[in-house]
Amino acid sequence: MSARTPAAAEEAALLARRADFPILARTTYLISHSLGAMPRGVFDSMQEYARSWAERGIRAWSEGWWAMSGSTGDVLCDILDAERGSIVMHQNVSVCQSVVASCFDYRPPRNRIVYTSLNFPTVMYVWEARVREGAEIREVPSPDGMTVPTELLLDAIDERTLLVPISHVLYKSAFLQDAAAIVEKAHRVGAHVLLDCYQSAGTVPFSLRELGVDFACGGSVKWLCGGPGAGWLYVRPDLSEKFEPRVTGWMAHEAPFDFVPGPIRYAKSTYRYLHGSPGVPAMFAALPGYRTIRELGTAAIRRKSVRQTELLREEALARGLRVTSPPDPARRGGTITLDPAPLLGGAAAKGQDGRLGAAIVQALAAREILVDFRPGAGIRVSPHFYSTDDELLACLDAIGDIVRRREHERFATGVSY
Ligand SMILES: Cc1ncc(COP(=O)(O)O)c(C=O)c1O
Repeated sequence: MSARTPAAAEEAALLARRADFPILARTTYLISHSLGAMPRGVFDSMQEYARSWAERGIRAWSEGWWAMSGSTGDVLCDILDAERGSIVMHQNVSVCQSVVASCFDYRPPRNRIVYTSLNFPTVMYVWEARVREGAEIREVPSPDGMTVPTELLLDAIDERTLLVPISHVLYKSAFLQDAAAIVEKAHRVGAHVLLDCYQSAGTVPFSLRELGVDFACGGSVKWLCGGPGAGWLYVRPDLSEKFEPRVTGWMAHEAPFDFVPGPIRYAKSTYRYLHGSPGVPAMFAALPGYRTIRELGTAAIRRKSVRQTELLREEALARGLRVTSPPDPARRGGTITLDPAPLLGGAAAKGQDGRLGAAIVQALAAREILVDFRPGAGIRVSPHFYSTDDELLACLDAIGDIVRRREHERFATGVSY
């Protein structure tokens, strides 16, 4: 791409941020679907956290710490096009899902929870646990283990459906679900949607405002480059006061510092979805990544991501690998999944059962190339805004080289995470 085209200039501006991510100086980092690279700004941000605690002591709470559940959420509101004040911070997606689950009761006839068999397992665990309270799970199977046709999911949503907790982008295959169609159908039959945006936020642009989704959540360790411990929960503003979560605590109280005994009086804002004291250090760690994504813009990040995932796909096919993620970039998030089995010929079609793929991932790590492997999907490779084309090609070449030299045979064949 000529450096003079606007597209090339846009990508150059993204790549100019490479220097802000220390690990990129020595590592080919193609694993942002799992843990985004740490921005250098985290050193300063954590220093600021330590300074505020060390020098301001107890006053740090009123000088910002208490408000961080909302102020950190507001940066995400900018990224995800949500009304400011509609996102609060929690520890992780599992907690966010549990808070939402505690808003409902599960008496028939509207007691069905509908999701697909490719949901991230933690989400299933949370909702399966509601079966004890009367919920009925309706799991829509995937015909190919990688995607779920939208019509199948839509057909499963009916007047008995209470809630549809689904992933925006599937963690295994990067299949991008049609959230707008799912919200439309759910609302038509009186059901709510909880959209897990962990694999989309930060790499796929979308507007929570436009989607009209009831609840959304995500975490920060992946494309947002925010590190662990900073989960976020969005509640559509007009719904905010409708529910009274049973997973609750004093931060959800209308006046927490009045220390009123007895039953809770819920806050008249998204704060009613909080529980106890906030995880302050995690939010300090998350902010530099959020601010970088906000500044660069997910539209520009996505344009580069689509070009690079297409490049990866074509180059992988040209090198004899099987690509298992969806071929249409419009239906795909930021990851390409690869089955290396064809490199060994038909006899060793082990790529997706864990042995070959997991061993190749370890051999790549020994060469300072970081990707991962998921059983049933293959090797997950993800360019982010800081990735160069050369890195993508180097990863593919290394896979071919490792298999040719049988280098993978030196590595344990367990599945590595
Ligand atoms: C789609 C999706 N949801 C949820 C999670 C994790 O949930 P939690 O934040 O509870 O660890 C992941 C990955 O770790 C994921 O890919």
